[in-house]
Amino acid sequence: MSVLHGLATRALRGLDPEDAHGMAIKGLKAGLGPRGGRDPAILATEVAGLKLPNPVGLAPGFDKNAEVFGPMLKAGFGFVECGTVTPKSQAGNPRPRLFRLTEDRAVINRMGFNNDGLDPFAARLTRRGPGVIGANIGANKDAEDRIGDYVTCLRRLWGMASYFTINISSPNTPGLRALQTRAALEELLGRLAEARDSLPPEGRVPMFLKVAPDLEEGEVETITETVVAHGLAGIMVSNTTVSRPWLRSSFHGQTGGLSGAPLFELSTAVLRRFADAAAGRLALVGVGGIGSGAEAYAKIRAGAQAVQLYSALVFEGPGLVTRIKRDLAQRLKADGFRALRDAVGAK
Ligand code: FNR
Repeated sequence: MSVLHGLATRALRGLDPEDAHGMAIKGLKAGLGPRGGRDPAILATEVAGLKLPNPVGLAPGFDKNAEVFGPMLKAGFGFVECGTVTPKSQAGNPRPRLFRLTEDRAVINRMGFNNDGLDPFAARLTRRGPGVIGANIGANKDAEDRIGDYVTCLRRLWGMASYFTINISSPNTPGLRALQTRAALEELLGRLAEARDSLPPEGRVPMFLKVAPDLEEGEVETITETVVAHGLAGIMVSNTTVSRPWLRSSFHGQTGGLSGAPLFELSTAVLRRFADAAAGRLALVGVGGIGSGAEAYAKIRAGAQAVQLYSALVFEGPGLVTRIKRDLAQRLKADGFRALRDAVGAK
């Protein structure tokens, strides 16, 4: 990381976390982001037919309104997932709603899908250049037909994104995670598959489901079978947790989803369960608590074809992605792998 980006990251950490995020977005839009170098060839890979220069993606929530996917690709991310976007713009929960748990290298958020809505999101996506950009779609808090909101997003963004992620795992929209239960998931994926099959086939791209790490016994298997049955490409494992492992920070009792280092073990264990249940039928993306090459590598060996991160950026700044990639490439070579895909799920 350049000295300048190091200083900027430290300065942002002195601000209220949401103000800091706003400043970071402004800086990135103004062209102040870092420039990642060439990716080591060993990191090139393919996920559900999407060709990636490297497997390290930016998790959704950072670029909710599709404003900075270009600068984040330039910083070195192999792909960027924008959103969650909902049909109508909405303000989200009252502030404060984002907490930095510095001692724990963690974040708690209860943002509540604050975003500008589909129209500006779509307008920005249509102006995009090359690179893999995913659209993470959700439902408005006041939606009468929640599933209808997902269908509206899919239709409006058809042909614009490299892939879609159906986000039913945010803990900050009351009742949303109930869509993970069998009957609701059947209906959601059924209606989305119907919409997908009625839309122009040339716009067809992979669809993923994003799940919570807080799943009951048997839910992993049910979700996996439902996802396979409806022809989705894969699953993003996972969103933030409502559970609270032991934490040092005085913010530990804040309501919301916990992410960052304390989420690593839980989300990786759930990823392993999905890898067992899917048995090669789905693409899995590992998300949760990645802050180093070792952690990215552990997710890949647990069965992830690619990974995503967000919280570690709060502490390390966007130069982190370059360090993670360098370390990951070294680890793959040290273990004798010739290509990243050979390490996926390797015991
Ligand atoms: C998120 N995350 C998230 N996920 C999602 O699907 N849609 C969203 O809008 C958001 N918003 C959001 C805001 C903030 C402030 C945070 C910290 C996180 C979850 C995120 O994409 C990821 O799944 C988790 O944060 C776990 O990864 P990390 O942060 O531990 O690397």
